[in-house]
Amino acid sequence: MTKKRVAILISGRGSNMRALIEAAKDKNYPAEIVLVISNVAGAGGLEFARQHGIKTEVIEHKKFPSREIFDNAMNVALKKANAEIVALAGFMRLLSPRFVESWRRRMINIHPSLLPAYKGLHTHKRAIEAGEKFHGCTVHFVTPELDDGPTILQAKVPVLPGDTEDALASRVLEQEHKIYPEALRLVAEGKAKI
Ligand code: GRF
Repeated sequence: MTKKRVAILISGRGSNMRALIEAAKDKNYPAEIVLVISNVAGAGGLEFARQHGIKTEVIEHKKFPSREIFDNAMNVALKKANAEIVALAGFMRLLSPRFVESWRRRMINIHPSLLPAYKGLHTHKRAIEAGEKFHGCTVHFVTPELDDGPTILQAKVPVLPGDTEDALASRVLEQEHKIYPEALRLVAEGKAKI
């Protein structure tokens, strides 16, 4: 089996990145993680990736004069690694339309809400405040609009009485770690169609 070469983009702790790396250890998994890029030098996830023998690159957005030039630098690294799929995992930068276009159908993201509900930040807090009975997470193909694009997989969790933002976030995160590797599998196998 030829495995698809996957790059993961992170900005922080990287628990979803970790779930993908763990899943990819299985010899029957159709993807291998060849590169982790972080736009933040101290991102927690970097160390885990290095310990697992995965090449890492820090490309700090603040060192670039524009979003496009930063995105170009990422594309250079992605090309050098021969990446075929890009997985955003807590990557906290907006991407330029040109970059997104160049990875059309080959770039996926995980978002902590049942999209199209609650795009953007603070999704758990907003879901609790709105009195939602259910919340969850979505893996979707990335399109130029923020947290948009065709859904690949979703998982739903209940919002329980008295839930705090943290309690709800960890209930959702547990599901994120299940659906992200599954969604990447579908994309790598060409089974997730738009
Ligand atoms: C996750 O909740 C993910 O859905 C969102 O950002 C968070 C990143 O967490 N996009 P981690 O860095 O993967 O632990």
